[in-house]
Amino acid sequence: MHCDTVWRNARLLTMIPGASPIADGLVAARDGRIVFAGPAADVPAFESAQVVDCQRRWITPALIDAHTHLVHAGNRAREFELRLEGASYEEIARKGGGILSTMRATRAASEEELVASALPRLDALLGEGVGTIEIKSGYGLDLASELKMLRAARRLGDLRSVRVVTTFLGAHALPPEFTGNPDGYIDLVCGEMIPAVAAEGLADAVDGFCEGIGFSAAQIGRVFDAAKAHGLPVKLHAEQLSNLGGATLAARYGALSADHLEHLDEAGVAAMASAGTVAMLLPGAYYFCREAQLPPIVALRAAGVPIALATDCNPGTSPLTSLLLAMNMGATCFRLTVAECLAGNTINAARALGLEAECGSLEAGKSCDLAIWDIEEPAELVYRMGARPLHARIWRGI
Ligand code: NIG
Ligand code: FE
Repeated sequence: MHCDTVWRNARLLTMIPGASPIADGLVAARDGRIVFAGPAADVPAFESAQVVDCQRRWITPALIDAHTHLVHAGNRAREFELRLEGASYEEIARKGGGILSTMRATRAASEEELVASALPRLDALLGEGVGTIEIKSGYGLDLASELKMLRAARRLGDLRSVRVVTTFLGAHALPPEFTGNPDGYIDLVCGEMIPAVAAEGLADAVDGFCEGIGFSAAQIGRVFDAAKAHGLPVKLHAEQLSNLGGATLAARYGALSADHLEHLDEAGVAAMASAGTVAMLLPGAYYFCREAQLPPIVALRAAGVPIALATDCNPGTSPLTSLLLAMNMGATCFRLTVAECLAGNTINAARALGLEAECGSLEAGKSCDLAIWDIEEPAELVYRMGARPLHARIWRGI
C-alpha cells in the first residue's frame, strides 16, 4: 500500500455506526482520501512519505456544522438586550427587526465585507476541528443580495481548507417590498431566484422558514416544487416556534433534514422516519431563545430518525461559533447521549448534507478529514465547556 501520510499510535473513533473505539489505531491517506483506518494490527504492509506519531491522541472524523447562517452583516446585540427586557423574538420580528434588520445590513454590505466578517466565525469553527460547513443565504431577500451571499459563502471555501456546502434560503422572511403580498414574493423566489441560483451553481440545496413569522406550508411547497424542478434537494426550518406541519411536508419531498423541531408531533416524527429525513437539532437557538418546549427526542430515537446537531450560527437566535458547545448543549438541554452528540456532528451531519459517501466517518474511500484531539476519552468533547482540545485538523489529507 502506497500512502502519502500515515497517522499511527492513535486511538480512533471511526463513527461507523456500531463500531467500537480502536485502542491502537492507524489512519493512512493517499491523494487526500483514506486508504486505511483501523487497528494497527490489521494494516497491510505500507510505505508512506510521512509517518506521524499521534502519541495515543484520539482521532475522530473532522466535525461537520450542517446548519449555519455564517454569512451575514451586523449583529443583533441590541435586540438581545430588548429580549432581556421582555420583548419576544416574534414581537421584534413583527416590528421589522429580527431577520429584516440583518437583511438591511446584509444588503448594504459588499461581497468582500460579507467574506471579511464571516472569516473570524469560520476560523473559530475550524479551530474546533470542523472540516465541512453548510452556509445559508436568506438575509438578502432580493435576487442580487441572495446571489451575493452565496458567492461570499463559496469564496470562504476558497480561502480556507474547508468544504463549504451552500443552501439557498430565499424563503426566510418577507422583504418589505412585498409587505402584504407573500405569494408575490414566493413567485419571485420560485420564478427568478431559484432558476438563477441553479444556473450559476451557487446552491447545493434549498431551505425555507415554515412558521407564522415565515411562510405557510403551502408556500413552502411551491418553493420545494421549484427546487425539485431544478434538481436541488430540500430541507426546512420547521416546527421551531409552532407546529405548521413543516416536517411532514419536508419529508414528503424527501428532505435531507428538518431543522429545529421543538414543536414536532408524532405524525411529523413518523413522516421523517419513513422518508429518512435527518432531525437537525439546534440547541444553541433553543438555549438562546430560552425555549420551553423540548424537541421530541424520545420519539425521534424510538422511530430511528437520525439526529444531527449544528450551531445554527446566526445573529438573531444563535450567535454561536462553537460546535463543541452545541454538543454540550445537546447533552445538557436535550438529554442526548455522548454517542448521539458525536454522531450528530459527524456521520449524521454528513447525511443531513447528502455527503455520507464523502465525509463524517473514518472509512477507506472517504475524504481524509481528521480531527486529532488532546483528550483522554471522547466524552470530554461533549463534557467540557470552552475547552480548546484540538491538537490538529487535517483536511483532504493535509
Ligand atoms: O435558524 N428561524 C429562522 N432562522 C434562523 C434565525 C434567523 C435570525 O433570527 O436571524 C434560525 O433560528
Ligand atoms: Fe437556522
